[in-house]
Amino acid sequence: MATILHIDVSAQNTDRSISRKLSACFLETWLAERPGDTVIRRDIGQNPPGFVSAKWIEACFTPEDQRTPELVEILKESDELIGELEVADIVLLGTPMYNYGMPAALKAWVDRVIRIGKTFSFDLARGDYPLEPILGGKTLVALTSKGEFGFSPGGIREHMNYLDGHIKAVAHYLGLADRHFVHSEYQEFADERHERSRDDAKKATVELAKTLAGNISQERSYHDHPTPAATECS
Ligand SMILES: Cc1cc2nc3c(=O)[nH]c(=O)nc-3n(C[C@H](O)[C@H](O)[C@H](O)COP(=O)(O)O)c2cc1C
Repeated sequence: MATILHIDVSAQNTDRSISRKLSACFLETWLAERPGDTVIRRDIGQNPPGFVSAKWIEACFTPEDQRTPELVEILKESDELIGELEVADIVLLGTPMYNYGMPAALKAWVDRVIRIGKTFSFDLARGDYPLEPILGGKTLVALTSKGEFGFSPGGIREHMNYLDGHIKAVAHYLGLADRHFVHSEYQEFADERHERSRDDAKKATVELAKTLAGNISQERSYHDHPTPAATECS
């Protein structure tokens, strides 16, 4: 049995959002292969986590047994989000590029889950790299959508791509060592290049889902989780 943490970031709903369609397509393909797996749904596009505040930082750095009820309360959302990450084998992330980087909702999620003593440890004895992830052995599937194009290595906007590199950098601290990316581009041009890019992304997403699902040992249970009706991949 595997657990997938399915995170969507787009502020748009499923009908319009390309990244949402890609993540739904991945999930549909995966569950067709492995219907017994567990899915945790976290829609941060619709319900963004809160931002870091002075109280939140104080709560993080206050030893657990010394936290006041107010500090305990302030960490509740973070505890819940980290709990979801801890049990996940795969983080399935559908995200747009906003202003050449990650949407604020995704950054808010990252800031809530990268937490001292929970997801990373800090030790100056480690020299120049004192932070180390606590979690490990997880897989990241990041499906991105961009309005412009040329963000991949060698592309005309590679130097403006602050989304993919940022995701990779923080993935390290979330225990997501195995990382897979699929990108759809050209949405703002609404031409045949966009159609091609979106179709290629969909095909790559289906292939990736089949490959990764095949790699995980098969322990099927057909009882509790019926295969969803085909929607996004058909
Ligand atoms: C607020 C906002 C900022 C955006 N900034 C960029 C950008 O910097 N670069 C880019 O290529 N596309 C940009 N776009 C276009 C989106 O990346 C594109 O529409 C993408 O398909 C959105 O993902 P979604 O379809 O899943 O909602 C932006 C769109 C919005 C709404």
